[in-house]
Amino acid sequence: MHKHLHFLSIFVALCSVFALINEVDGEYLIGLGSYDMTGPAADVNMMGYANMEQNTAGIHFRLRARAFIVAESSQGARFAFVNLDAGMASQLVTIKVLERLKTRFGNLYTQENLAISGTHTHAGPGGYLQYVVYSVTSLGFIKQSFDAIVTAIEQSIVQAHNNLKPGSVFLNNGDVENAGINRSPSAYLFNPPEERAKYPTDVDTTMTLVKFLDTESQKSLGAFTWFATHGTSMSRDNKLVSGDNKGAAARFFEDWFNLVSNKSVSTSTTKSSDMKTLNKKAQTIKATGGQPCGKTASQGFKVRKNDGSRFVGAFCQSNVGDVTPNVLGAFCTDTGNSCDFNHSSCNGNDQLCVGRGPGYPDEILSTKIIGERQFQKAVELFTSASDQLSGKIDYRHTYLNFTNIEVELDGNTVVKTCPAALGPGFAAGTTDGPGVFGFQQGDTEINEMWKKLRDLLKEPSQYQVDCQQPKAVLLSTGEMFEPYAWAPAILPIQILRLGKLVILSVPGEFTTMSGRRLREAVKETLISNGNGEFGNDTHVVIAGLTNTYSQYVATFEEYKQQRYEAASTIYGPHTLSAYIQEFKKLAKAMATGQKLTGPFLLPPDLSSVQLSLLSDPQGDLPPPGKKFGDINQDVAQPKGGSFKKGDKPSATFYSANPRYDLLTEGTFAGVEMLQGERWIPAYDDDDFSLFFKYEALWVI
Ligand SMILES: *[C@@H]1O[C@H](CO)[C@@H](O)[C@H](O)[C@H]1NC(C)=O
Ligand SMILES: *[C@@H]1O[C@H](CO)[C@@H](O)[C@H](O)[C@H]1NC(C)=O
Ligand SMILES: *[C@@H]1O[C@H](CO)[C@@H](O)[C@H](O)[C@H]1NC(C)=O
Ligand SMILES: *[C@@H]1O[C@H](CO)[C@@H](O)[C@H](O)[C@H]1NC(C)=O
Repeated sequence: MHKHLHFLSIFVALCSVFALINEVDGEYLIGLGSYDMTGPAADVNMMGYANMEQNTAGIHFRLRARAFIVAESSQGARFAFVNLDAGMASQLVTIKVLERLKTRFGNLYTQENLAISGTHTHAGPGGYLQYVVYSVTSLGFIKQSFDAIVTAIEQSIVQAHNNLKPGSVFLNNGDVENAGINRSPSAYLFNPPEERAKYPTDVDTTMTLVKFLDTESQKSLGAFTWFATHGTSMSRDNKLVSGDNKGAAARFFEDWFNLVSNKSVSTSTTKSSDMKTLNKKAQTIKATGGQPCGKTASQGFKVRKNDGSRFVGAFCQSNVGDVTPNVLGAFCTDTGNSCDFNHSSCNGNDQLCVGRGPGYPDEILSTKIIGERQFQKAVELFTSASDQLSGKIDYRHTYLNFTNIEVELDGNTVVKTCPAALGPGFAAGTTDGPGVFGFQQGDTEINEMWKKLRDLLKEPSQYQVDCQQPKAVLLSTGEMFEPYAWAPAILPIQILRLGKLVILSVPGEFTTMSGRRLREAVKETLISNGNGEFGNDTHVVIAGLTNTYSQYVATFEEYKQQRYEAASTIYGPHTLSAYIQEFKKLAKAMATGQKLTGPFLLPPDLSSVQLSLLSDPQGDLPPPGKKFGDINQDVAQPKGGSFKKGDKPSATFYSANPRYDLLTEGTFAGVEMLQGERWIPAYDDDDFSLFFKYEALWVI
């Protein structure tokens, strides 16, 4: 058996340049950090589409954890926010990160003031969540994925902490054009007309940006943005590790900043006439590549070395529930016609209705375009940000048992949330990634065959069946505990405050209207209880998929239609009302300066009972007469002697399974460029234009 490695690169155009000048006094201590969390680039099931066939087989570009810390002073209030190029946050990851931070920093960073948020890419290695539903397709827990994420979060916070210095923070926001549409517009229409009339569209188009500036050097340290659109530009068939559109936006933004803040000649602007000379020269000077690729060598060849002081640009997720980046709409793959409006199916078949990104049928191009739309808006907001934040840093956090929250509705009716359950619309999947044949979004009934199969696993209690109405209970995950809990019961909610910016950490995917209701309820509560502390200009932003994961939150009205988002609103019809009620309590406590009173719940740590059924790689050998690192197929000579923009040169090498060494902060592939007498790294596996592909070949 031997393994086969392959990469190819294309050249991408670079973006326009803006001036970056700001003069202000520092208000806070600020620190930013970032760390590689790519994880296993082979054989590991990707988190997001729940597609058993979708295992990693290379890297499009690397995944990172990006962190910022803000503090009032060295002894004063602070919080840390970490954005992950991951499908979502994980309770177990949060628990282990908190343990490590406690060892390092004592009580500086705790569950109260740390937020860990996922971008919702569907192209990262899975197996890092502790509840069964979220690790079925990855064959259970995957320590390698988990450790890569925990370590990256820890290291990004260590960096940010070590970087803390006086600085100021600027807030800006604006609309992103055409980077998301509603993928369940029929469910959105269930919301009251007078409520819908308050908003121009059925998705939130606002991007919120905070910009961090070092007071002493007047250098920009980075920026974090929040905007709602799914990480599903890459399809359920993709096998390359990718940050999807938000990861791409971050890569473009960070590269753009380095380019504009750097007067030296960029490698990417070399003209093709220069290339000819360089190519000739290259034949006489030996390149540095082809050396044994240990960790040190791999880090040495890296284009963007992580010395802890790099500009950090992060693209965070928001109320993303019903927002797809596949903005051309969904069409039937057989006829090319539009899908059924209410069910997103084609003649009853859910699997034929698939959304199209703006680069259709090229998913890489779609990822690039949706990434660029966010990146370009971020640049615009970044360069024009002038609204300096001042005032308190504060936070409130609590854990709630979502299986039985009593919610007081208007008119004194008391309703309850339910133990977690999924409806048939969940099995139907979405237009971003259709699910199981035989289900449709909007189904409120389950056929006898599926009922029998379900009952073999777990027959839902009558209480559950009644509680979840009008959802039909396909999987009563909140009542399933074998071999361990299938769904979370205990969820964290959190409010972080930085002056007039208020961040709501929600452990799931709120639909557009759910997010609006929550933001408005919190804002109103802060203003009406704050005694002038919170003004009309209070800016509330939702940080989606944060601290843990519990699937979707649709409004009570959307829940009636039972499309995917509603069928995945696991705690029943009053889930959103429960969130709003409990967030208002946190908001009131914050506005009135009160601490929360117990008793406090804690989520379970299920690490000791996790099943791990994926085996480690073993027994790799190169074919007879070959060594690892040997070339199998060299780059073909280009026509006319030099490559042109758009060419896709490729070469293949013999390698072992990338799971043997994740080469964290390093690279599996590099393209070097001759400058003078020296070869310097020009592209690596973190570039959008370079693809590292891995394929296992069995040789008899
Ligand atoms: C500018 O260029 C230098 C040398 O190529 C590089 O080390 C540095 O990271 C670049 N970016 C900034 C922000 O200085
Ligand atoms: C969708 O369903 C609603 C009822 O929920 C119905 O009024 C409407 O006509 C349906 N639309 C289409 C296009 O089938
Ligand atoms: C949550 O509440 C339910 C209902 O009261 C209870 O059965 C369950 O044990 C609680 N879960 C946890 C993890 O405390
Ligand atoms: C706050 O905004 C509301 C609604 O836009 C407006 O009615 C009210 O007058 C504003 N209050 C202040 C103090 O500006």
